[in-house]
Order: sequence, then structure tokens, then C-alpha cells
Amino acid sequence: MTDVTYTSWSIARWSEEIETRLSMAGSEPFINLNPDDAREFDAIFIGGGASGRFGAGYLSAMGGRPLIVDRWPFLGGSCPHNACVPHHVFSDAAAQLMLERTFSGRLWFQNLADRIVSIKEVVDMFRRGRNGPHAVMNYQSKEQLNIEFVLNAPAEILDAHTVAVAGRQFRTRNLVLASGARARKLDVEGADLSGIFDHASLVERLDYEPGSTVVVAGGGKTAIEYACFFNATGRRTVLVVRDQPLAMIKDRETRTYLLDRMREQGMEFWLHSEITRLEGDANGRVRSATVRTPEGETRIDTDFVFVAIGARPNSEMAVAALGVATDEKGFIRVDSRMRTSVPDVYAVGDLVGSPLEMFKARKGGMYAARNIMGEESHYHVKDYPDFLHTHYEVSWLGLGEEEARERYRNVVVLRMPPDTPDGHDVALPAGDRMMLYAMMAPRLSGFQKLIIDGDTRRVIGAFHVGCGAKEGFQYLAHLVKQGLTVDELGEMDELFLSPTYFIQLCRLRAGSKVLKGM
Ligand SMILES: Cc1cc2nc3c(=O)[nH]c(=O)nc-3n(C[C@H](O)[C@H](O)[C@H](O)COP(=O)(O)OP(=O)(O)OC[C@H]3O[C@@H](n4cnc5c(N)ncnc54)[C@H](O)[C@@H]3O)c2cc1C
Ligand SMILES: NC(=O)c1ccc[n+]([C@@H]2O[C@H](COP(=O)([O-])OP(=O)(O)OC[C@H]3O[C@@H](n4cnc5c(N)ncnc54)[C@H](OP(=O)(O)O)[C@@H]3O)[C@@H](O)[C@H]2O)c1
Repeated sequence: MTDVTYTSWSIARWSEEIETRLSMAGSEPFINLNPDDAREFDAIFIGGGASGRFGAGYLSAMGGRPLIVDRWPFLGGSCPHNACVPHHVFSDAAAQLMLERTFSGRLWFQNLADRIVSIKEVVDMFRRGRNGPHAVMNYQSKEQLNIEFVLNAPAEILDAHTVAVAGRQFRTRNLVLASGARARKLDVEGADLSGIFDHASLVERLDYEPGSTVVVAGGGKTAIEYACFFNATGRRTVLVVRDQPLAMIKDRETRTYLLDRMREQGMEFWLHSEITRLEGDANGRVRSATVRTPEGETRIDTDFVFVAIGARPNSEMAVAALGVATDEKGFIRVDSRMRTSVPDVYAVGDLVGSPLEMFKARKGGMYAARNIMGEESHYHVKDYPDFLHTHYEVSWLGLGEEEARERYRNVVVLRMPPDTPDGHDVALPAGDRMMLYAMMAPRLSGFQKLIIDGDTRRVIGAFHVGCGAKEGFQYLAHLVKQGLTVDELGEMDELFLSPTYFIQLCRLRAGSKVLKGM
């Protein structure tokens, strides 16, 4: 056990210590406890990821005493270790590579035509860099947020008020379950062969350069985002999708725009299809995937299969030890105060189910802390902005056009580029980081639409494909919830060239009593 209570390590020192612990199985835990604080813990957080760390930080800020226990030697959880952060690294790489592929041999761009670039080098680069953020989280949690913790040791729940870790037992007034989720596995023959990865094993275990064909199972965010990266590296990329891809984007026109562009960039979508068998070579590495398609079974030769078919909650220990109620998929049921079915036991983050996103994890922790500290607070997750990365950033909020038309009788749509036969050949929308596309490949310069209820003039949906608008969407979503109208949007001051044209499009139409689309 390494007691860090009286140390004040720099970020660089934390980075070295974390690196050492990660590279050594069975390495010592870190313990940081305040011996001068005689209070019982207000909450023990099992898991120091986004939900546990933010919950503990908030509870500490409110004057409470939290303890975090995490089996990893760092705080911050899966997001910086194997989920969001690598995905953003791969998405940045995909956007850069796709730019270079699109303009190969023009201007200063190297010729990438027919060239495959390394996946392994990008994975290795991420693995070398990820301890920096980990170290910052440990430093910040200890030195700035006064959070006590035991790291690099799994917690065992003894009862709703007692946790065992690293050979010690800790008592607490409340327990907060924050142990996250893990990737689901394919349930087919050969699923355990090497060469079959999910988002976590990819960054831990990739030790060879994948060949020229990649097979991806799934059609959700993870599948699409990683497939875009694999495709951008120059590999044949086949997505095996049980139903339809991009189902989370509730606007058909936006989905079609994206899928058309991805197909043009070489991605293959095998719809209504499933992997039925994976075969290995003499070394136990996958060598082919058999896929059932509507036309029959086909075999694809590949040494690299990426599986992204959703998440399973890490709820087994809490169910066995406490009998907390779960839904049919094992996600822990909570009320709007983040309380489980067991008194004094709360649950937050991915463990409580959809949406599995950072904002919900962090806010869930914060709401649990408030309730534990006696401030009754209810969290209802709804009407949030969302996004995904292809080689574009895609952001959306509110209703898609189809649902808007079902719910409102007078729907007005403002879109860019114009919906005409040659609309997509114009150099619009143009915005930062899309200007080369706008000038040299206008078809690829992006797409956006604003959906308005023509009667109340309120914005009810917004969709953006391109780069640079994502930041704006989190503020736009807030305004839309408050009833933002086309007239109010037209009154705002745009930072021209703004990647979304919403303000200027609204200003062009706001003068008319009867709104018309464009
Ligand atoms: C590929 C991918 C990309 C993503 N990208 C994004 C994105 O761009 N934006 C976004 O908002 N969301 C993204 N997400 C979702 C986001 O990563 C999660 O919503 C978030 O990390 C959940 O936080 P959490 O605290 O619930 O769980 P985690 O961060 O997973 O934390 C759980 C913690 O519990 C610990 N733990 C588990 N069991 C025990 C035990 N017995 N004892 C001690 N510790 C234990 C684990 O070590 C871990 O640190 C992505 C997810 C994936 C899979
Ligand atoms: N914000 C981000 O950028 C980001 C990025 C990545 C992940 N995440 C979060 O992380 C979570 C996990 O992401 P995810 O993409 O893995 O999960 P997901 O969103 O739940 O999507 C799972 C996909 O796999 C398919 N599927 C399920 N079971 C299957 C099976 N047995 N065989 C074949 N396909 C199957 C589903 O198809 P059906 O539709 O037919 O069920 C769906 O297309 C998500 O909740 C997501 O919000 C966020």
C-alpha cells in the first residue's frame, strides 16, 4: 500500500507512478485518507470515473466527506482510459486523413491514394499519451478537491454501509454505485479469438498491424466513429449492421447526407446483416468472419474485427451483495434522486442506463451528492444536445423533420445548402475547417437544417454536419428549451464566418409575418 496522504506529488510524478502501476499486475494500491477527519464518510463512491469523481467533488464542495474507491490507479474512469478520449484521437486522425485523401496530390497534400496508414501507431501514440490526463485527475482530486481515495484496488460491498478494499473496511452513511459499464461481446462461435476487439481491448491489446480489411459489428456511435477511422486509414471497412446505422439521428435527410458521403468515401454498409461465425488461423487469430445477409451467407477474410454492439452494466456485485433492483438488461434502476431500491444506496452514470454519456454521468454524481447532503434534487434526463464524429462533427438537438411534421401542423425548415438538384454542388455551408472542402469539393462542405414551428415561430430541432458547430449546440439547446424563436435567433450577433448559418438564415426570414422555409 502506498500512502500518499502526506505527499504532494507533481503531475509529472503522478504520471510516472500511474504508468508503473498500470504496467505491473498486482501492483500496490494508493491510499489517501485524512487521519485528522473523525467524521464518518457521507458517501463511499464505488468507481472514480466521470460519475463517481464528479459526485465526490460536488459532495466535498458542499462540505461533505466522500471516499472514492477505484480498481484503476487513477481517477477519471473509462472516458480518458479507453472510451471518449481515444475515440476523439481516432476521430481527429480520421478528419485529418480524410482531408488528405480527398485532396491527395493537390496543394501541399501528399498522395495518399492507395496507401494504407498504420492503425497501431495511432493506438500506441494514444497509449503513451493517456497518462497525462490521468495524472491531472489524481492531482486535481487530491490537491484541489480534497477527495480521499483508495486507488488500484477493487472494492467489495459488504452491506449498504460497509465496503472492503485493500485489506481494510470502511463505514459510510451512504453508498454510491458508480462502477460503469463494459462492451457487450458477440455471442457467436469464435468470439474469443485474438484479433477481435472492442473499444477497451483495442487500446490495451493491439500488438500487430491490421491487414487491409476491417469488419465492424454494430451501427451505433462507437461502430460508426471507429469505422470512419479505420476507413480513413485506407482499409476496406465493412460495417455489419443488424438493422439500420445511425438510428440515433432522428432526421432522415441528415442521416442520408452522412451515409451517402460515407459510402462515397468507400465505407461498406451491410444492412439487416449479422456476423454468425468467426474463424481463426493456427495461431488463434481471426482470419475470417461469416456474415448472414438478406441475400445469404458470405465470408469475409480479415484479421481484425471490431465489435461495438452496446454496453453491459457492471452491476453484478451490487445485485449479489445488496439485491438492488435492475432492468431486464441489468442496469440499476434509480429514481430522479438517483436512489436505488435499497435505502442509502444510490447509483449513477452508465450503470443506470441510457444515455451513456459524460454529461449524464457527471450530473448524476452531482445530483446524488445533493440528495445525500440533504438537498432534495431531481434529475430528469431529457432534451439534451447530442453528437457523433464521422470525419465530420455531427450535432443535433430536438425533433427531426419527420417527427416534427407528426406533431406540428405548420413546420418550416431552413436549410443549407438549398434543396435543389444542384444544391449540393455549391460551396455552402462554408465554415472554419470546412473551407478547403467548400472551395475544392463543395459536395462535401456539410449540411445543416433548422426546424421551426411556423405557428409559434419557435425552434424545435437543429442538425449540423460539418465542423465547429458542436460547441454552439450545447448553448443552443439551452435556449431552445427556453422557447427560442426564429426572431430571437435572427437578433443574435453571429461571428461570421460561423460554421452554422442559423442566425443569418433566421434573419433572412424573420421579417416575414408568415414564415417560409428555404
Ligand atoms: C468508445 C466510447 C466513446 C465514448 N465517447 C463519448 C464522448 O465522446 N462523449 C460522451 O459524453 N460520452 C462518451 N462515451 C460514454 C462515456 O465514456 C461514459 O458515459 C462515461 O465514461 C461513464 O462514466 P461512469 O462514471 O459511469 O463510468 P466509468 O468512467 O467507466 O467509471 C467506472 C469506474 O468504476 C471502476 N470500478 C468498476 N468496478 C469496480 C470495483 N469493483 N471496485 C472499484 N472500482 C470499480 C472502474 O475502474 C471505473 O474507473 C463513450 C463511450 C465509449 C464506449
Ligand atoms: N458521444 C459519443 O460520441 C459516444 C461515442 C461512442 C459511444 N457513446 C456511448 O456509448 C454507448 C455504447 O455505444 P455503442 O455504439 O456500442 O452502443 P449502442 O448505441 O447501444 O449501439 C449498439 C449497436 O449495436 C447493435 N447491436 C446490438 N446487439 C447486436 C448484436 N447482437 N449483433 C449485431 N448488432 C447488435 C445495435 O443495433 P439495433 O439498433 O438493431 O439494436 C446498435 O446499432 C452508447 O450509449 C453511446 O451513447 C457515445
